[in-house]
Amino acid sequence: MESVLVIGATGHIGAAAVQAAQQSNCRVIALVRNATSAEKLFRHLGTQEGVVTVEADVMSETGVQSVVDRVEAGELPAFQHVYSCVGGLFGAGTLLDLSMDEVREYMRVNFEPNMIAYKATIPYLLKQKDPRASWTMCTGASGDQGLRPGPGMTQGALFSMAVAAAYETAGTNVRFNEVYLDGLVQVDVEAEKSGVLKSSEFAKSYRTILARDDIRGCRVFVQGKEDLQTIRYRSKTG
Ligand SMILES: NC(=O)c1ccc[n+]([C@@H]2O[C@H](COP(=O)([O-])OP(=O)(O)OC[C@H]3O[C@@H](n4cnc5c(N)ncnc54)[C@H](OP(=O)(O)O)[C@@H]3O)[C@@H](O)[C@H]2O)c1
Repeated sequence: MESVLVIGATGHIGAAAVQAAQQSNCRVIALVRNATSAEKLFRHLGTQEGVVTVEADVMSETGVQSVVDRVEAGELPAFQHVYSCVGGLFGAGTLLDLSMDEVREYMRVNFEPNMIAYKATIPYLLKQKDPRASWTMCTGASGDQGLRPGPGMTQGALFSMAVAAAYETAGTNVRFNEVYLDGLVQVDVEAEKSGVLKSSEFAKSYRTILARDDIRGCRVFVQGKEDLQTIRYRSKTG
């Protein structure tokens, strides 16, 4: 059985990644901040089936690495896939309103953990040489729209990271992809009230990525429900 390590598993996007993995008959290793966050995830999912939770500080450079070390020591199941979606700081404010402390906090929460996750897990996946390996990250169109520069600039950094990652993993056993989400996704219970896209619907994008090993080094576009009917993607490496 294949396993997916989900980093940021307890959020709106993380819930979708976990659901997609479950629907793809994969085991899930969900990195969680603490027991309260784990309970929140299980409440959203309505089941604990196939999900192993591991507490780790995803904000620290040693947090994800310590989980990889435990996998390598045989204490946790091996994994073939990673989905990274830590973040969620989404405040308003113009460039002139933002203090430099706020800018740093946006980068610390929305950008850095994804970079840390990449640096901790890609060497493991390369070492395993498993041809099924994949690494997926979710970015947002607030990076293009200029309306919320605080979170938007963190997405700009993620866009650049995704281009570099697509080039760096080209020709390896690791299939890197970025899911570019232009719109809001929330866990089902919240989306039912607000009318935005449900995490259970958004899950289809990752289900398709897991199933389609020809999607490699790509930006996968989710800009409306039609993109969940027919997947739309473009190579990041030309
Ligand atoms: N949701 C969307 O509509 C959307 C759209 C476009 C792009 N995205 C991308 O997806 C990312 C995540 O969005 P989201 O809506 O899923 O956010 P979210 O619901 O707030 O979830 C964020 C995840 O990161 C974890 N996290 C945040 N701060 C943390 C901290 N200081 N320490 C440990 N864990 C922390 C949360 O853990 P806890 O549960 O323990 O707090 C949760 O697992 C965004 O930053 C963006 O890059 C999201």
